[in-house]
Amino acid sequence: MKSVWLDTYEVPSAASDQFVPGAHYDTVVAGAGLTGLTTAVLLARAGQRVAVLEARSVGAVTTGNTTAKLSLLQGTTLSQIRRHQSDEVLRAYVEGNREGQSWLVRYLEERGVPFQRRAAYTYATTSQGAAQLRKELEAARAADLHVNWTSDTGLPYKVSGAITLPDQIQFHPMEVLGALVAELRERGGTLVEGVRITGAGLRSPLTVRTSEGSVRADRLVLATGIPVLDRGAYFAKVSPNRSYALTYRVPGAPGSIPEGMYITADSPTRTLRTVPIDGQELLLVGGNDHVVGRSASPQAAVDDLEEWTQRHFPGAERTHAWAAQDYESINVVPFIGALPRGGGNIYLATGYNKWGMSNAVAASIALSSEILGGNVPWAQTLGRRTTSPSDVLTALKFNASVGFNAPKDWLKAELKELPAEAPAEGAGVVGRERGRPVAVSTVDGTTCRISGVCTHLGGVLRWNDAERSWDCPLHGSRFAADGALLEGPAVKDLPRIDG
Ligand SMILES: Cc1cc2nc3c(=O)[nH]c(=O)nc-3n(C[C@H](O)[C@H](O)[C@H](O)COP(=O)(O)OP(=O)(O)OC[C@H]3O[C@@H](n4cnc5c(N)ncnc54)[C@H](O)[C@@H]3O)c2cc1C
Ligand code: FES
Repeated sequence: MKSVWLDTYEVPSAASDQFVPGAHYDTVVAGAGLTGLTTAVLLARAGQRVAVLEARSVGAVTTGNTTAKLSLLQGTTLSQIRRHQSDEVLRAYVEGNREGQSWLVRYLEERGVPFQRRAAYTYATTSQGAAQLRKELEAARAADLHVNWTSDTGLPYKVSGAITLPDQIQFHPMEVLGALVAELRERGGTLVEGVRITGAGLRSPLTVRTSEGSVRADRLVLATGIPVLDRGAYFAKVSPNRSYALTYRVPGAPGSIPEGMYITADSPTRTLRTVPIDGQELLLVGGNDHVVGRSASPQAAVDDLEEWTQRHFPGAERTHAWAAQDYESINVVPFIGALPRGGGNIYLATGYNKWGMSNAVAASIALSSEILGGNVPWAQTLGRRTTSPSDVLTALKFNASVGFNAPKDWLKAELKELPAEAPAEGAGVVGRERGRPVAVSTVDGTTCRISGVCTHLGGVLRWNDAERSWDCPLHGSRFAADGALLEGPAVKDLPRIDG
């Protein structure tokens, strides 16, 4: 499953720099998504020696698989924040996102990266959804955001209500990363792909351990989606949510595709936008999110989106299908700043809850400013947000259900002996063999046997029948059929098990 973005754009100068063991940088940034590359560019502009170390390739994880709507109207995010936080925190969140959005729009203009201005809509198809829209409208107004109620959405189906904000932005996210990589190189920054950070010391200069050896750095920024060092236990403070996206050629396009950028207030989530590519306009449809590793059949989620699209856009012809995950913070506001127990030299940004186009840039502005000795008032206000008893309860509930998936429970209750037969093509099964969980799958005719226990904190993996991967139901690490680590808080591949 490859996204339309990764399939249609190659980062021009992404050829990896060489990894130099023992090299010393002012700042090492882990991760070449939107957060990592923007932070690196801002630090390089200030004259820092910066190295971005990327475990896979530029944009490989969430940024290259996003839906890339750069919008201040973000579904029902503002009313959710207002339910958990003061209006001061709500306004700080919007101010940070506004700053992130303005910075990125200026950047795209300066670097000649195409983008489109579109109205953003949050709409509902149920009366409960419409009630949520009214709360979102109130929250937006409390944050000085000029959102309006509308009955005119341009959608080809009936809605029970909609709110809208004009002049928001959509783009091709890999083109944005391409521009950032080019600027990083112009300013002498280093970008190395295929190098995974596995640990770091505490005292400056930090020893940053990687899959290829160690380097030294005065500062380390974890722009890895979910932070990869377990200090601060962020894996227990965010929920990893995976969702699906498909693009289509629609008969009669462009006139037959609604122009705006849409997302539902009610469940199941549906998100829509246009994708101008190679002189044609595609329709992007996304949604059906679930906690990573907790869906019985991710393929069923893809099939359901396909069925929905055919119902509303008859004759649509699918061009791409993909999936990605983002992290929701327990108190709805992203975590941005110095890592607790990081000695003041390790920074993180996570918890954008699928609104990372503006949040990632906002986080980069805040982190680079903190590293360079400045301060950003809205980021300080966000840092003072509270975790209420109900947030703690939410985290406890999430982690309690996580506990159910821990190895001891599986071994006691669910895990059966591994079947003697290899799984059918495209299937995977985890079972007990000599007392330990073993995961066996067959993909493209090759049967792989690997440990069925996540290398992060020991969750027992589940087969993802859409992406043919092993997904951890505890904190969202994912592994390829051959055990290679794809994403999440783990830092090691799954070991192979001899048959
Ligand atoms: C389906 C979906 C749709 C979305 N749609 C929107 C949208 O319309 N609008 C919006 O604003 N937001 C959207 N988002 C959210 C947004 O895409 C993300 O918040 C954002 O891309 C996150 O960027 P990032 O740089 O923090 O993470 P990533 O892009 O995931 O980058 C992290 C990088 O770190 C690397 N890495 C991980 N571990 C290590 C390690 N140990 N060492 C070195 N490198 C490592 C990874 O390989 C990866 O390349 C969506 C998210 C999803 C899942
Ligand atoms: S991701 Fe934490 S145990 Fe698997």
